[in-house]
Amino acid sequence: MDLDEQRTVNSEKAEAEKQSSPVSRTATSVPVGDAIEDFHRRDDISFTIPAHRSGRTEFLPDAARWTGVGAFCADVGMTHGVDTRHQAWSVEPTAMELFADAVGADETLFSTNGSSQNVRVAIMAAVHPGDTLVMARNGHKSAFAGLVLSGAWPVYVDPDYDQTWQVAHGVDPAELGRVLDATPTAKAVMVFTPTYYGASADVSALAEKAHSHGLPLITDDAWGLDFAFCSRLPRSSMESGADLAIGSVHKSLAGLSQTSVLSRRGNRVDPKRLSLVFELEQSTSASSLLLLSIDSARRQFQQQGEKLIGRSIDLAERLRSEIERMPGLSLMGQEIVGRPGVLALDPTHVCFDVWELGLTGFSAADWLRQHHGIHLELSDHRRLMPLVTFADSDESIDRLVAALKALVEDRKGADMGRIPEVGDPAALRMETVMLPRDAFLGRTELVPWKQAAGRVSAEMICPYPPGIPVTAPGELLSSEAVEYLQEVVAAGAMVEGCADESLAELRVVAD
Ligand SMILES: Cc1ncc(COP(=O)(O)O)c(C=O)c1O
Repeated sequence: MDLDEQRTVNSEKAEAEKQSSPVSRTATSVPVGDAIEDFHRRDDISFTIPAHRSGRTEFLPDAARWTGVGAFCADVGMTHGVDTRHQAWSVEPTAMELFADAVGADETLFSTNGSSQNVRVAIMAAVHPGDTLVMARNGHKSAFAGLVLSGAWPVYVDPDYDQTWQVAHGVDPAELGRVLDATPTAKAVMVFTPTYYGASADVSALAEKAHSHGLPLITDDAWGLDFAFCSRLPRSSMESGADLAIGSVHKSLAGLSQTSVLSRRGNRVDPKRLSLVFELEQSTSASSLLLLSIDSARRQFQQQGEKLIGRSIDLAERLRSEIERMPGLSLMGQEIVGRPGVLALDPTHVCFDVWELGLTGFSAADWLRQHHGIHLELSDHRRLMPLVTFADSDESIDRLVAALKALVEDRKGADMGRIPEVGDPAALRMETVMLPRDAFLGRTELVPWKQAAGRVSAEMICPYPPGIPVTAPGELLSSEAVEYLQEVVAAGAMVEGCADESLAELRVVAD
């Protein structure tokens, strides 16, 4: 038999094996779950990883005490049990196709390393080393990591900055148009919408601008995956014309932490390059437990998205109306809609100022945790943001309302604390003078913060949350930015992405 005949025999064999697949391609099925169940039903045994034998051992690790044995039973080798060695049953591909159908994409890829991985993959797939990426400056730190890994030059587009709330919203399409007209070398555009604070940009108009310049639009809508599953939320980025869209399954659906999807529509980003870059980043032992949680979240929200997300919106609206009545708290609401960078506000991101109580958001969040055992999604120098989800209840909202009332009461007559001033963001903006890749991966040194201005940053310093770098690798540090960072750390912010999190020293490109 020659090699071509052998190839035909192999593909016939694969086709025959497909017939015994334990999964079906229907929206009501959960292929990864069905395949795990079938593995246990068949009573197959495996001499492969995972070493814990999918929970079938008397020597289960202590972790099972906390997770239950079920977590181990659902951890089956993706190509040694869930599927065959050569994926003859197409278990994961079928699950990904069903996800793509659900969100209106041509293709969806499942990440078990968060949206951080998908953001990096999207950037590396869309631009080549030395290419120019037009990117909103309010990106998550993973996008700056994507710049380092891809070797691209960023041209930053400033998002719409709201002086009243001292917060950056989405990108104004007109501003994107101006930046693109001035950047003929651009190869792709990336924006971040909705923002952590819940503001959605006009993705259709942004896509129109990018496409009219012949460029793909990547949207990091880590916080907006639920938009595809509920008519009470804005249209999803994918439906609005994005070419690549990244959504965290654990942020707005019901995925386990670290689950994320990367969806593609059309061919402005080469599908083959995308899948190769994805493979470069994904683990060779992706967790079936995490993949299952993506797959089952898709079915759950396809079937019950309107009800579940509607529930979170109703609960959030109730919380909002309570907060609106509390003295000293100011709620960010619908008044921001219609700004150049805001098409809609997701009400489940309940963002409000506490500075009138004489407190930073950091101190208020610490107080709520210490006195009421309540943890909030975001606190910053002046505000708090509880995230309301389908898993909340009237009782949990009541408990939060009571705690906020107690906080307001506790602050009556108290001294005003020190609230750091955020300067004009234009004054914090720095020039990119070196490729982020060269600045981050080249020779660097640590210098005392007072000597850092005028040097090229070799790190990203990200107050977390929201994880948006104030300094990015390759930027020429200004004294305003260095001093602002000292202020926010002194006020209690945590910073990430930098060599010395106390910020006594900054990492800069070596002389
Ligand atoms: C806008 C944005 N993109 C990406 C990420 C990264 O997501 P993950 O934590 O799933 O890696 C985050 C995380 O908060 C985010 O806010």
